[in-house]
Amino acid sequence: MLHPDLPITTERLLLRTVTSEDIDDIHAYKSQPDVCRYLPYEPLSREAVAERVAGLWARTELTEVDQGLNLCVEERASGRLLGDVVLFWRDAENSTGEIGYVFAPDVAGHGYATEAAAALLRLAFEDLSLHRITAQLDARNHASARVLERLGMRREAVHLQDLWFKNEWSDTMVYAMLEHEWRGQRPSVASPPHRSIV
Ligand SMILES: CC(C)(COP(=O)(O)OP(=O)(O)OC[C@H]1O[C@@H](n2cnc3c(N)ncnc32)[C@H](O)[C@@H]1OP(=O)(O)O)[C@@H](O)C(=O)NCCC(=O)NCCS
Repeated sequence: MLHPDLPITTERLLLRTVTSEDIDDIHAYKSQPDVCRYLPYEPLSREAVAERVAGLWARTELTEVDQGLNLCVEERASGRLLGDVVLFWRDAENSTGEIGYVFAPDVAGHGYATEAAAALLRLAFEDLSLHRITAQLDARNHASARVLERLGMRREAVHLQDLWFKNEWSDTMVYAMLEHEWRGQRPSVASPPHRSIV
């Protein structure tokens, strides 16, 4: 079982459990076709967001592989919900996890996704003692690839046309990082975020 200590604070952000008060804010960006272009689902209705907030996204610990810990990302200064991140527990025997992130388009270009994903890597490697973290993305999702490269994750594979995705074949890129690589990173990315006990 993976039992994270929440919430997590970083220099600019608060990563916390999703609540029913977040439904409208999440729906505002997850209902946009551009945001969902490379996500494994179509734009979500408000009802679909509400159902996930009450169910899958409400999880606060991971008891079985393939469960995901979904966290809202709030700007500390304003309290605005900027996006959300997820850490999946993929393999217990081999201590492997996978990260993902989705942010509102109007907050792009400030490094929020990178900062939140770095906090997720820290949680995975330092608190939950995972050994290897991966991320998978459509090869055309250049903004997401740049986030992973800024984090210091390594592009390990490009699988050509491995997925029939939204009515066409698409290529999947796989990025990864190992625990010792995380600990060896430059301080600007790998330095521990501040934690708050709320
Ligand atoms: C993927 C996604 C989160 C990337 O968003 P983003 O705004 O590019 O990423 P960040 O918030 O980390 O911002 C990084 C950008 O801000 C700039 N930036 C400004 N201040 C910064 C700071 N303090 N730290 C880091 N970067 C900063 C960077 O230079 C970078 O710009 P660039 O990509 O043009 O070089 C966003 O496009 C998204 O939500 N897409 C839809 C969902 C999706 O596809 N998710 C991924 C599925 S695999």
